[in-house]
Amino acid sequence: MSATPAVASTRAELAALLADARAAGRPIGLVPTMGALHDGHASLMRTARERVADGPVVVSIFVNPLQFGAGEDLDRYPRMLDDDLKLCEREGVDIVFAPSVEEVYPGGDPQVSLKAGPLGKVLEGKTRPGHFRGVLTVVAKLFGLVRPDVAVFGQKDYQQLALIRRMVLDLNMAVDVVGAETVREYDGLALSSRNRYLDDEQRQQATALNRTLRAAQDVERYGADVALDAARAELRAADGVDLDYLVITDPDLGVLPDVVPPGSGARILIAARVGTTRLIDNMPLVLGEQVASREGESSCCGP
Ligand code: PAF
Repeated sequence: MSATPAVASTRAELAALLADARAAGRPIGLVPTMGALHDGHASLMRTARERVADGPVVVSIFVNPLQFGAGEDLDRYPRMLDDDLKLCEREGVDIVFAPSVEEVYPGGDPQVSLKAGPLGKVLEGKTRPGHFRGVLTVVAKLFGLVRPDVAVFGQKDYQQLALIRRMVLDLNMAVDVVGAETVREYDGLALSSRNRYLDDEQRQQATALNRTLRAAQDVERYGADVALDAARAELRAADGVDLDYLVITDPDLGVLPDVVPPGSGARILIAARVGTTRLIDNMPLVLGEQVASREGESSCCGP
């Protein structure tokens, strides 16, 4: 039976709870979340535990207003701290940091914030301008407060993970960023806090995202063009899915070169609206040799 996690709602409480581990030089693991926790988050917590052994695992629960644009779902974003604490307890989390907006942004919107650069403007960033500025700013603040050795993020938010890695690299932050594999339902739907907005019919329709990505994976050995065609064909057969983007990129979200050596890694990413709910998903690809290229059609790929 795991112990109830200690809950800190202020920076001072958090610092006090971490003081012993820091003094003893024990590694600290951080799993940043916005709450509404599910099995996907539980797997991030397990990954953090594996990495820090008997060091403390900290889960932050904070719905970050800075990463929501006007008209996005900030107000309706699910907040369920009691249930979240139970999940953290089951996973043996040591500390939950659940601050208020005023605690994180004492002076309101910060005057200094992080710019996500070119990668922040494509894919999700195109539809959600300012989103990654908000994500990176709050993650940098959490890194500053927790000073973790290891921070675990899900691969489901692949662009977010790529940008956090880039931030750590560009700003010389001493944090080991771990990307944990996406956890899926029995029918392939990627776990997401937003899935709870789907009614039964939409929940069924949403499985098309996973089928679309798998259709590409099934023919990855024939190269990126063929893989993208297969994915598009799968999507055309789907009902109720309003596509935003479907792209194949290199593993760092860059444009694929014209000639891709067989065996190269790539990523296929999709974003679509089902009803009013925007869903994203992605999968790795290992591309084989491009067997046919069609004249007049530019290379499929890149954001
Ligand atoms: O992925 C999320 O839940 C959020 O974007 C994060 C990383 C906790 C920052 O608010």
